[in-house]
Amino acid sequence: MGTCSACCPVAGVCIPDRNIFRGPMTDLSVLVFTGVILALIAIYAVRLRVVPMPSLAAARAEIISYIPSDTKTVTDFGSGWGDLAINIARHRPDIAVTGIELSPVPYAISRMRAVLAAKPNLTLIRADFRKIDREPGDVVVCFLDPRVMGDVGDVLDQKMRAGGIVISRAFAIPGWQAFGEVPMKSGSDILYLYRVGKHKAEA
Ligand SMILES: C[S@@+](CC[C@H](N)C(=O)[O-])C[C@H]1O[C@@H](n2cnc3c(N)ncnc32)[C@H](O)[C@@H]1O
Repeated sequence: MGTCSACCPVAGVCIPDRNIFRGPMTDLSVLVFTGVILALIAIYAVRLRVVPMPSLAAARAEIISYIPSDTKTVTDFGSGWGDLAINIARHRPDIAVTGIELSPVPYAISRMRAVLAAKPNLTLIRADFRKIDREPGDVVVCFLDPRVMGDVGDVLDQKMRAGGIVISRAFAIPGWQAFGEVPMKSGSDILYLYRVGKHKAEA
């Protein structure tokens, strides 16, 4: 410490300016942090073969309108940032909603949003829906990718009880017979509606 009226005119005491070093380091930390987050999102998108793209408000409203009125439980296979699961919980307080998401960044954000939404009927789980050991409930909703729809069919064949409803945005389950294929008003996607137990195409 010495005196220096040029850089510390008020106190007249010169404290070495640590900001000279902190500035560039902070910028670097932010860059590294952002890079790690983006890399994690990309790695999981490649690994899971699904991009974490959320359903927007109009699409969510359409999907929710196809959930039957007597539904008690809904699972979102691949709940992403939480948009659809949180909105189902908000619009249907009578339903216990579970979102299953494996990608850590969307999952972490969805957990924060769920805390803010404070919906007691919403549970978010970090897991692979292909490995769930529980029944998915009355209704499964999903918005995934054609490359994983075979896995969805396999899981639901094993885990979902007869009478359960599956609502798949945009992508059909291979080998399953939909009872409805509804063009969405909010875009060019189709909603595929299935009823487990009646989902196998008749020979
Ligand atoms: C297109 S986003 C849809 C998000 C949400 N359902 C919505 O409509 O807003 C699909 C999500 O599924 C997740 N996902 C893909 N495969 C998964 C798996 N096997 N287990 C859990 N999540 C998976 C992806 O990480 C991605 O976040």
